[in-house]
Amino acid sequence: MKAVVYDRYGSPDVLRVEDVPMPSPSSGQVRVRVAATSINLSDWESLRGSPAYARIGGLRRPARRTLGSDIAGVVDEVGDGVTRFRPGDEVYGDNLALMGGFAECALAPETALTHKPAELTFAEASTIPQAGVIALQGTKPATQGSRVLINGAGGGSGSFAIQLAKRAGAHVTAVDNDGKQDFMRSLGADEVIDYRRDDFTRTGHAYDLVLDLVAYRSVFAYRRALAPGGSYKCVGGTARTLLRLVSVGTVVGRLTGRSLGVLFVKQGPSHFEPLADLCVRGEIRVEIDRVVALEEVPAALAHVGEGRALGKVVIAPA
Ligand SMILES: NC(=O)c1ccc[n+]([C@@H]2O[C@H](COP(=O)([O-])OP(=O)(O)OC[C@H]3O[C@@H](n4cnc5c(N)ncnc54)[C@H](OP(=O)(O)O)[C@@H]3O)[C@@H](O)[C@H]2O)c1
Repeated sequence: MKAVVYDRYGSPDVLRVEDVPMPSPSSGQVRVRVAATSINLSDWESLRGSPAYARIGGLRRPARRTLGSDIAGVVDEVGDGVTRFRPGDEVYGDNLALMGGFAECALAPETALTHKPAELTFAEASTIPQAGVIALQGTKPATQGSRVLINGAGGGSGSFAIQLAKRAGAHVTAVDNDGKQDFMRSLGADEVIDYRRDDFTRTGHAYDLVLDLVAYRSVFAYRRALAPGGSYKCVGGTARTLLRLVSVGTVVGRLTGRSLGVLFVKQGPSHFEPLADLCVRGEIRVEIDRVVALEEVPAALAHVGEGRALGKVVIAPA
């Protein structure tokens, strides 16, 4: 079967399409004929080996040869002990532990997957698992009338997060580059900020909730952006910033009547299915920037990693 592989960290040039042996499912695993895999920033980070946490399990060279964790497709073989699926079932899920979605077939533990709603296409379903859990859990504290700021709001998780926070009745400020301002407004953002021009921690505004998808500032800058009782949650960013948030951030938060920390996202079907239900009911829109073939994975990753994608980029290996 065809797969996009890499053997060293680097730019998209290190990726190539190869014929690799068809994998067989072990106990508890299923093999999925991949119809669609959406790209996450975590794929870009694992390609580059940066931030440092992207090298967990593979300090010098990548632990997995094929990236791609958000898969949707059809089960074509099941391993021993698999009870929830059989060949022919349409499934989707976040296969973060094994990856392998940029290929014609991928192995996944059955626990990572669930049945795909018939109302969603494979491409749509593939956009939901990873970005969806981040957006759902990250916007959970948003309430009617609260002031919410989402940093990195024009990407995959952000495009769901804007809509979820608006649905909760919040006033939403969305931060991303200049090319994504209209896109973020179209998703419901009340105010937008171009991060290359303005620093949201220095505008003088204070927020009840800051959801940060790309954290790199000091704890004190984030504290400045919070209203009394407010909460700052970071889900991604530099390793140094994340470490400071879990150490200094916790103390600064307690001393100033705010909360600063890292959101460790709970993974798995029960956590992303509520978003799929909202998409099926038409209450949340799935934003797909483009759907491309396996051969175009390097260019597609660059498109996401360099921040040009409006919503999710999807790979369709078939
Ligand atoms: N905590 C967990 O358990 C967990 C699990 C999985 C993933 N994650 C993390 O969650 C995040 C999810 O990201 P995603 O998939 O939604 O990424 P994405 O689609 O690439 O979106 C990120 C957005 O942030 C923008 N951006 C980059 N630098 C910025 C800056 N300095 N200020 C404001 N915006 C900036 C990017 O645009 P430009 O670069 O073009 O400007 C892009 O639009 C990633 O950081 C990932 O590592 C966390």
